[in-house]
Amino acid sequence: MPVASPTLDTIRAIVAEHRHLEGPMLPILHAIQEAFGRIPAEAVPAIAEALNLGKAEVHGVVSFYHDFREAPAGRRVIKLCRAEACQAVGSEALSERVLARLGIDWHGTTADGAVTIEPVYCLGLCACGPAAMVDDTLIGRADAERVLAEAAA
Ligand code: FES
Repeated sequence: MPVASPTLDTIRAIVAEHRHLEGPMLPILHAIQEAFGRIPAEAVPAIAEALNLGKAEVHGVVSFYHDFREAPAGRRVIKLCRAEACQAVGSEALSERVLARLGIDWHGTTADGAVTIEPVYCLGLCACGPAAMVDDTLIGRADAERVLAEAAA
């Protein structure tokens, strides 16, 4: 993921590029996150001003969608499925083990910046759960060792 240092000029350019779209808020936020790896705090007032919205409204959208990060993600991102089919085959126990081994909670990043962990609600691997994903690598019938080994690779 290309990550640049946020500048107000770059943020304003991204906003200007997308503000003509119908429902521009999500495309703007996705483009900003793609550029900076997160939604920098200074983006919120810039978006609010451009879209004639309140800052609280923009902040509300950023915090509602867990795909948007206000802090940079770790170098590797683990996603563990918490949806029903995976729950039926042990995803909660898997999650507890992985979270405990990393010493972080959902949406957390390890202190060394190595790993961020996110819940997801279906990865399309329902028949071979519990399912996990490390960056772009899908893991079916996941166990904690395999997930952590992939994240450390
Ligand atoms: S429910 Fe977990 S992959 Fe579909």
